[in-house]
Amino acid sequence: MHTRIQPNILYFGTPVVLLSTLNEDGTPNLAPMSSAFWLGWRAMLGLGARSKTAQNLIRTRECVLNLPSDALAPAVDRLALTTGSNPVPERKHERGYRYVQDKFGRAGLTPTPSETVKPPRAAECPVAMEAVVEAVHPIGDGGTQAFEVRVQRVWAHEAVRTPGTDDHIDPDAWRPLIMSFQKLYGLGPQVHPSTLATIPERFYRGPDLEHARTL
Ligand SMILES: Cc1cc2nc3c(=O)[nH]c(=O)nc-3n(C[C@H](O)[C@H](O)[C@H](O)COP(=O)(O)O)c2cc1C
Repeated sequence: MHTRIQPNILYFGTPVVLLSTLNEDGTPNLAPMSSAFWLGWRAMLGLGARSKTAQNLIRTRECVLNLPSDALAPAVDRLALTTGSNPVPERKHERGYRYVQDKFGRAGLTPTPSETVKPPRAAECPVAMEAVVEAVHPIGDGGTQAFEVRVQRVWAHEAVRTPGTDDHIDPDAWRPLIMSFQKLYGLGPQVHPSTLATIPERFYRGPDLEHARTL
């Protein structure tokens, strides 16, 4: 039986993304976020409007979506309560955030040049997607914004690719890091055969993928 509750947050579990963007001085910023979902070769990213990442995205229109595996949880956690904004905004200061200039160094991750955008990839993340901002949508009172980004390049470690293919991620090998109610988890094994998965993945190919092939 259901009972009525009013949870403070509704973070039921989404994958963690490490967003790399470029600061005004050309150095990279790297920020964990998890209000993300994908449709085709686009992603919607929910970000605090005052975060350094949101400001960098609006100014440069470019980012890399680095997807950490569950094994990289310690690196992600080292970025918690940090910001690339200096001075630290008042509300963040109250919550214990502090300014970190070198987020890649702080996480222990290695910046690697991207091909179609200026922000670097994080070499240790099994998946990295270069993307550009297509639209910015306010959420609620505008304190958060949804960034609609279009992916231009997808990079993957050999270990998460389906052997013998160049267009498939193996979901049994890919172990995303999941944030649920501010805590970090991995995924368990497949729990049931999937009827949806009878649809060949190539049926989902759209114009953004074709566009990316020309870049
Ligand atoms: C696991 C994790 C998930 C997070 N998810 C989000 C998110 O979805 N949206 C957001 O705005 N902030 C999220 N945060 C908080 C940001 O990382 C935080 O605002 C940070 O200061 C942003 O860095 P920046 O100011 O350098 O851009 C998350 C933090 C962690 C550790």
